[in-house]
Amino acid sequence: MNHSEAIRQLCKEKNAVIMAHYYTRPEIQDVADFIGDSLALAQQAAKTDADIIVLCGVHFMGETAKIICPDKKVLIPDLNAGCSLADSCSAQDLRAFKQQHPEYTVVSYVNTSAEVKALTDVVVTSSNAKHIIEQLPPDAPILFGPDNNLGNYINSVTGRQMTLWNGACHVHSRFSVQALLQLKEQYPGAPVLAHPECKAAILALADVIGSTQALLNYAKQHTEQQYLVVTESGILHEMQKACPDKTFIPVPPEITEGIGCSCNECEYMRLNTLEKLYNCLLNEAPEIQVPRDIAEQARKPIQRMLDMSK
Ligand code: 13P
Ligand code: SF4
Repeated sequence: MNHSEAIRQLCKEKNAVIMAHYYTRPEIQDVADFIGDSLALAQQAAKTDADIIVLCGVHFMGETAKIICPDKKVLIPDLNAGCSLADSCSAQDLRAFKQQHPEYTVVSYVNTSAEVKALTDVVVTSSNAKHIIEQLPPDAPILFGPDNNLGNYINSVTGRQMTLWNGACHVHSRFSVQALLQLKEQYPGAPVLAHPECKAAILALADVIGSTQALLNYAKQHTEQQYLVVTESGILHEMQKACPDKTFIPVPPEITEGIGCSCNECEYMRLNTLEKLYNCLLNEAPEIQVPRDIAEQARKPIQRMLDMSK
């Protein structure tokens, strides 16, 4: 039996479900029960009747599932799968901001720790941020964090003037504007599909700005044969599977002096391997734990998000 077959067998024996983000390795997506963007993973966790959820993504996604399902066992193949964006806002700094500005409504991107969510009024993802911000009173002072690029984009499409945290995702903020301009010349007519975590100069060149799910849906629903994709390259697997006759061209990142990284992969997402997934199911570890008081506080803004997304 190979790893994938053994994983499926363990899922059956243990009534476990595997949920994977679109940025994970192709073989992880292929063995999963469910693949989705951050919002879909949270929604799916809320309705699963499995006893064990194995979240193949990054740590905050496992925490979100655990907060939504406190009585289920939530596993993640590698506890080191963090997120540079979530790391850009500490609970300590957010607490200090709130003490100085108690009048602010705090809107946090789902890419945050459980502690930060516990200090938040409403959580959003890139799928529902616009929809949720538009439901808040027009004159409410809002702090949006931690993603500065997404916040800027939401300000531009809603006309709001939210105060923005200065955080960013290291993968999305390093895409090369120059490379994108060259690719646009090389592939005239190819729509540019960009994730809103990209910087404003990239978004200004995009035809479609949306969550991983929204970008995938666009490619499925349109007739163009070629697409320039400005997000983590893991999404190409599902795009190519869903649209085998179309061509998806990943836009490269800038070559930073001394680093020379030419990949647009999130190294945290890539920590999820078939071997770790197998061991994690077999040993039922590592398990995500969220202290009860933090989970109770963090559940409220997540539930508000799920209710406001309907
Ligand atoms: P979405 O899946 O919500 O588009 O999020 C992107 C992301 O960066 C996840 O880490
Ligand atoms: Fe975090 Fe960026 Fe990786 Fe998404 S792609 S998990 S935002 S570091």
